[in-house]
Amino acid sequence: MKTDDLNFLDKNLSRINQAILKSLPPENFSRITEAIHYSIMNGGKRIRPQIILLMSDAIKVDVSDATVDLIAAAGELIHCYSLIHDDLPAMDDDDFRRGQLSCHKKFDEATAILAGDAIQPLSLEILTTIEDPNLSSEIKLKIINLFSRACGPKGMVEGQSRDILSENKLLSEDELDEMHYLKTGKLIEACVLCVCLLKKDIFEAQINQFIEFSRKFGLAFQIRDDVLDIIGNEEEIGKPINSDINKNKSTYPSILGVEESQKKAESLGKEAMAILKELPYETKNLESLCTLIVSRNN
Ligand code: IPE
Ligand code: IPE
Ligand code: MG
Ligand code: MG
Ligand code: MG
Repeated sequence: MKTDDLNFLDKNLSRINQAILKSLPPENFSRITEAIHYSIMNGGKRIRPQIILLMSDAIKVDVSDATVDLIAAAGELIHCYSLIHDDLPAMDDDDFRRGQLSCHKKFDEATAILAGDAIQPLSLEILTTIEDPNLSSEIKLKIINLFSRACGPKGMVEGQSRDILSENKLLSEDELDEMHYLKTGKLIEACVLCVCLLKKDIFEAQINQFIEFSRKFGLAFQIRDDVLDIIGNEEEIGKPINSDINKNKSTYPSILGVEESQKKAESLGKEAMAILKELPYETKNLESLCTLIVSRNN
């Protein structure tokens, strides 16, 4: 997914993976911890933690790199849990994820449900354990609140429920935007917002611009995901293609077609980038990510 000017992603990636690994219980503790490692230490683009690291660099947060890494790990864990449950037979019923058998196929459904159940509180536990003189308990609590709300009943879970309920229905574009925001956008927004909390003197107006950026970025990201379900190469995306079509899901291509959907993703990516350019921060790397997410092949 890279060109030469995207090398910064590699550097962050090893930081991210180290922080995630350190946050996990030992793999050999139980069958569940084996499933947890299997489903987390298995590649993945780590886009959410990348956003957290890139944002932190851009706005120059007050806390240490180690703190940023732990917050990034927590954000990725929530995402990984959601993928395990998303693949279950009761949900999307997909047998492959990140180029390997999905958790319930490698282990069994009960193990996949429990591994997901375990990862979610683990992500919040990680946040509670951060010790940094520049991170007050109040801000820590706000970050935990942000992530909890992003994946809770008015966030990702509701988005996932609407996704299932949308099967065999034709949603309007607005309804689809709302569903995508809930299932994918809210966690991305939480990643962006929690970084804003790490800087004391950031202006409210700038936070609002970052929120706007995250919404456009999140929608562009999910639209490209919908497009890749049709035009993607299974080996590259590491998960089955035509999964959405086979379940007659409401997706961007199902209402607008592939070409229009891709155009929309690209213009959202450009709008997200334009918002970053207006901000008084060094956002070059984040801007590159806006182009990458709509042209990615995995
Ligand atoms: C896939 O997310 C599910 C969506 C919310 C679109 P990613 O495309 O970030 O998946 P990984 O983490 O790289 O496997
Ligand atoms: C998944 O959306 C969103 C969440 C897991 C919250 P998709 O169902 O489109 O993701 P993929 O395509 O299986 O990765
Ligand atoms: Mg799904
Ligand atoms: Mg899915
Ligand atoms: Mg998808």
